[in-house]
Amino acid sequence: MPIPSVAVFDAYGTLFDVHSAVRRVAGALGAHAERVSALWRQKQLEYSWTRSMIGRYTDFWQVTEEALDYALAACGLDDVKLRSDLLEAYRELEPYPDVHAALAGYRQLGLRVAVFSNATPTMLRDALESARLDSIVDVTCSTHALRRYKPDPDVYAYASEMVGARPEAIVFHSSNAWDAAGAASFGWHTFWINRAHRVPEYTWAGLRECPDLCTALAHARAMQPDP
Ligand code: LAC
Repeated sequence: MPIPSVAVFDAYGTLFDVHSAVRRVAGALGAHAERVSALWRQKQLEYSWTRSMIGRYTDFWQVTEEALDYALAACGLDDVKLRSDLLEAYRELEPYPDVHAALAGYRQLGLRVAVFSNATPTMLRDALESARLDSIVDVTCSTHALRRYKPDPDVYAYASEMVGARPEAIVFHSSNAWDAAGAASFGWHTFWINRAHRVPEYTWAGLRECPDLCTALAHARAMQPDP
């Protein structure tokens, strides 16, 4: 296997905990908190796939708003302040505890670090800054430029160009199994970061399953030639 030169990370669910927005305003949501958070994420992804497939692109912030509106309505919640507090919290999601150490570890190995996401450049900038990750990330790449979403193969081709590496020199990390399948099918070395402890899926795509980013880093370290 060629030695990877770029470590690429999905953003939402992989670097950032999408459920931290609802946790921040959990008091106002009461018993609905868990359902709102799950529906919000589920519909955000569904709307991105649908819009991408039928060619009705709108940016990921609008998709995120539309998904939240569905989640709140499905739970019978109609509260303008709650909606705006949740969206504000979504701009500053918490990173998972392993993120700083793993990204810094990849850099110590001599790899460049990139983030590749459906999110708009502004969303990514806000999230990376609030999580204090902006100084560790070398390249930020959004699918927005193509007006299409993952897992369209063209967006992985675009990201390969943006990070300046051939597919076989890229090691990708995503907690979203469908995103990992898209990347692996395109030819990137891919770690599926199974944060939610799901049963294996997309096994045909040749993903390597890891419980967290630090375990993936340990595997990547083992791929390096001896000093
Ligand atoms: C992203 C979605 C998949 O960050 O979470 O691209």
